[in-house]
Amino acid sequence: MNFDISADRRNTNSIKWNREAIENISANPVAEPFWVADMDFYPEPHIQEAGKVLAGQGIFGYPSFPKDTQAVAQWVRTKHGWILPKEKIVYAQGLLHALALSMNLFSKKGDKILVSSPMYRPFRAIPQRNGRELIESNLGYEDGRFFLDREKFAKDAENADMIIFCSPQNPSGIVFTEEELRFVLETAKKHDITVISDEIHSDLVHPNAKHIPMGLVNERVGAKCITLFAPSKTFNIAGEHIAFAVFSHSEMETAFREAESALWLDEPGITGGELAYAAYTKGGEYNKALCRYLGETAEAMRKYLAENCPGLKMANGDASFVTFIDCSEYYQRIEAEVLGHPDRYQGGEGGGILSRFFGVNAGVAMNDGTWFGSDWYGFVRFNYGTSRVRVMKALERIVRAVKSL
Ligand SMILES: Cc1ncc(COP(=O)(O)O)c(C=O)c1O
Repeated sequence: MNFDISADRRNTNSIKWNREAIENISANPVAEPFWVADMDFYPEPHIQEAGKVLAGQGIFGYPSFPKDTQAVAQWVRTKHGWILPKEKIVYAQGLLHALALSMNLFSKKGDKILVSSPMYRPFRAIPQRNGRELIESNLGYEDGRFFLDREKFAKDAENADMIIFCSPQNPSGIVFTEEELRFVLETAKKHDITVISDEIHSDLVHPNAKHIPMGLVNERVGAKCITLFAPSKTFNIAGEHIAFAVFSHSEMETAFREAESALWLDEPGITGGELAYAAYTKGGEYNKALCRYLGETAEAMRKYLAENCPGLKMANGDASFVTFIDCSEYYQRIEAEVLGHPDRYQGGEGGGILSRFFGVNAGVAMNDGTWFGSDWYGFVRFNYGTSRVRVMKALERIVRAVKSL
């Protein structure tokens, strides 16, 4: 469990480390990747072992999993204090699949889906690709911190037919309080609309914060609520699309199970199933150590920026391994530099002004803020799920790049 050692992921067919993909967002094929949301840490040893056993057997036929979510129920209970009968936990082939399927089942074409912004891009793509309209509801932002702006949220919800909520929030790293979650649920209940809560980052909350599952808060509110979570980010097995859903109402659960069964999508594959089982049964200690490590890295980043470049502000960053960095103070100068020298920033058409600037001048590939909504052009999303030494060196180069303007 030495997180100071990162895996060498070059030549492992990783999109995060793919040179062409890196160039596409950063205009520099050899920029170091701090973008796609997976980590460079090796998974917990038992998970690696489960993968090795499978590979060693050299045979990959249909598995005979007992369709048992007991290990998942135990994890949720220990980690978040949510006591759930295992029968209420429904398997899904990845979190976004569960989200898209739920949205299609519990809203109809033309409906308006409220999503807080900045938003993880699939939250825009999924409603749009499925004929829904998006209500992009900006979070509040003050002094480098994002928060739920209740007044705005309530106003935007008046026109909404469904809410997609992300808790903890990607990309800001907000961990919402119980009061905030209750407010979201009560708002949904008032308008009789469903809340889908994407909690894929919930097992990576840092020691200074506490995640509360939406479904747990909803036990006292009684809104229509779907809570989605997964082992993929938590245990760095995101290449295996495996997730779980919990429904507030049994009719909703039945509809979801029937839709999955109709699409023949109701069982995990052999690898995802084995890795997830190893993760949930044996990954507790590793997970605690990782949350500590990520919390310390976030703190070191915040301190470094405050001391060396207060014009760059790191957002909340209380969970997981991605955070927004506010570069607005430098935006105009960076824009003038990038637009004034198109020859220097060629090849980065998939990115934005900031991601190309930092790709070329700091050798750091990050997601441009515009990936999360056009209002966020002054931000980048930085993935610190790697060794702290790499993170701090990248930050030094980022600071040097803005100071050289
Ligand atoms: C908030 C959020 N939801 C869902 C996903 C992807 O989930 P999956 O790969 O299980 O579909 C990600 C990946 O970055 C994410 O950040």
